[in-house]
Amino acid sequence: AAAEKGGHEYFMLKEIEEQPEALANTLRGHFADGRIVLDEQRLADQDLREIDKVFVVACGSAYHSGLVAKYAIEHWCRLPVEVELASEFRYRDPVLDRDTLVVAVSQSGETADTLEAVRHAREQKARVLAVCNTNGAQIPRESDAVLYTHAGPEIGVASTKAFLAQIAANYLVGLALAGARGTKYPDEVAREFHELEAMPEAVGRVLGTAGQVRELAAGLADSKAVLFLGRHVGYPVALEGALKLKELAYMHAEGFAAGELKHGPIALIEEGLPVVVVMPSSKGRATLHSKLLSNIREIQARGAQTIVIAQEGDETVRPFADHLIEVPAVSTLLQPLVSTVPLQIFAAEIAKARGYDVDKPRNLAKSVTVE
Ligand code: G6P
Repeated sequence: AAAEKGGHEYFMLKEIEEQPEALANTLRGHFADGRIVLDEQRLADQDLREIDKVFVVACGSAYHSGLVAKYAIEHWCRLPVEVELASEFRYRDPVLDRDTLVVAVSQSGETADTLEAVRHAREQKARVLAVCNTNGAQIPRESDAVLYTHAGPEIGVASTKAFLAQIAANYLVGLALAGARGTKYPDEVAREFHELEAMPEAVGRVLGTAGQVRELAAGLADSKAVLFLGRHVGYPVALEGALKLKELAYMHAEGFAAGELKHGPIALIEEGLPVVVVMPSSKGRATLHSKLLSNIREIQARGAQTIVIAQEGDETVRPFADHLIEVPAVSTLLQPLVSTVPLQIFAAEIAKARGYDVDKPRNLAKSVTVE
């Protein structure tokens, strides 16, 4: 069993390390002459051109990957994107027709709520594209098009490498749509298309923060709660960081959009409370970065212990970071691929320090096939 875990105590830690490979395998083979090819496509290019609205439906971490996708697809394709928990989508009366694309994201391809959401969408004549890690699972079988994530089997109940692969696959969906329909930002899309191919290497470098994160986690293992703040694509990263900590360490953890701080969460700040802040790219939109800087200042002034995930070379955050974790500088939209990784390690290491089984958190199942 030790060999299966690649020398690690837990599968999850091995799976965190496998992320560069999971990404490379997911991206491989999809780039053809400046175009993105899907794995299975029972849809014509014309169908993709006629799409006028996208829904991403998923549960758990897969839902967070969908939240990331919204920022990319809306920007690249100028298409409205709604991201919905599958369990909510199917019980509403969502407005769907044949020009709606529903992207169903699921590691297992068997999650009951996501599968039912797919069925509901198809009954309404919407087109369904599955992003799935399991060949031939029910969700891809019932979809019009499929993009497989090639993260390999994921044993840890809390998703890590499958989540990163889902984000990458969702970007591919966005680029495929941009390719079929055209984009308002051809230069940027071309740049991000190429930068995506460099992401396995960038994620490999983030793994180098593991020692620092482990030390930090050991010092915070007795905290009552941890808050996570982010803006733009950093917001879903904050939600994912909080989910990981709840799942694994049974610690109260909440992710917030940093801009909402003054609308409630700031009331939770007390002396010593650890707050993880996911900084946006310092190369990207300057306003995003400076707004988050002032958020850190506000919480630090109220006694929070700030843990800042920022890009290498971002010296502006240093004075406000009680702990600074540096990740490679990448473009704004691709940043979740690097900034999520330290948060996965953080949650796993806190859980370990608290003596919990990181692979099999209590009350949770790898795949929820009942509603
Ligand atoms: C469970 C797992 C999560 C996963 C979610 C959705 O809650 O513990 O890690 O994100 O199901 O699973 P799916 O297979 O649909 O991606």
